[in-house]
Amino acid sequence: MAMYVPPTQRREKSPHLPFGDMRQTPFYGKDILSVSQFGRENLEYVFGVAEEMRSMVEHVGTFDLLKGKILANLFYEPSTRTSSSFMAAMQRLGGSVIPINEVRYSSVAKGESLPDTVRTLESYADVIVIRHPDVGSAAIAALYARKPVINAGDGVGEHPTQALLDLFTIREELGRTENLTVTMLGDLKYGRTVHSLSRLLAQFQTKLHCVSPDILRMPPELVSELKIQGMSIQEHTTLDEVLPDTDVLYVTRVQKERFEDQAVYESVKGAFVVTPDTLKLAKDQMIVMHPLPRVGEIAMDVDTDPRAAYFRQMEYGLYIRMALLAMVLGKA
Ligand code: ASP
Ligand code: CP
Repeated sequence: MAMYVPPTQRREKSPHLPFGDMRQTPFYGKDILSVSQFGRENLEYVFGVAEEMRSMVEHVGTFDLLKGKILANLFYEPSTRTSSSFMAAMQRLGGSVIPINEVRYSSVAKGESLPDTVRTLESYADVIVIRHPDVGSAAIAALYARKPVINAGDGVGEHPTQALLDLFTIREELGRTENLTVTMLGDLKYGRTVHSLSRLLAQFQTKLHCVSPDILRMPPELVSELKIQGMSIQEHTTLDEVLPDTDVLYVTRVQKERFEDQAVYESVKGAFVVTPDTLKLAKDQMIVMHPLPRVGEIAMDVDTDPRAAYFRQMEYGLYIRMALLAMVLGKA
């Protein structure tokens, strides 16, 4: 006789379609945990939906695509952009949000486990966005949740929604994603955004320059993975030699919170600072990106340079996150 499995322990993630108006999309009912889930076809689909979202926001501001849906925003680490853009995305689509922006004030502070917290939130919400300091935590959350889980950064692992908005930024700003020279600068060891973005760029014949202090180099296993995919990748310790050829300069913050020894952080934190002088070596048709927050690695007087795309990049994040929410909830 088959063993009885209580409904709360069933693990299927493909919800039945309760309404006739719901359509299957590539990510309907799915978790979004890693950029490895996105091939070129899916990327084009996401970008197409994001463009529609942009146009809708520009024309009507807020609309009812996800009316009645609820997002649980579960953040175990600080965030301004990811957290508030997911909230804005859900609200612009007519849905609502349970914000847990500081787990210190939730039952996590009483010792509640990640699986139990996730089980709790999915009782109330339709989708869970999670940021957590441990690599693999979003995958663990997804294992226990029956509702879709979106990875908003798992330690030094991945930040897939950031990589999607980064690639969307490149596409919108430069008009293409193919055959570009991209230079990643700063903390390539601990920076999860560069880990995710480099994996996406490997699909687009990118020439990648990695510029960092020696102790903050891109993880060797990731460099090997990218080379196996056929990516041209070179490592450097200075920027000047590669800047003149660069189409996208992707600057990152040295990730203070990942260092065991703060003296080591102090020794590398100021290793690279991009100033208007630095950019004299760069092409006219190029962009400077940064996932933000910046803490000194791009001087504020770069902000007025038309090539400084980092504030526009934040805005693209809203449209990408609207697209992702609509897709996983079957409305795109
Ligand atoms: N906000 C990005 C992240 O959470 C980059 C950073 O914090 O430096 O990964
Ligand atoms: N880019 C990014 O993830 O920013 P926050 O850490 O502010 O969310």
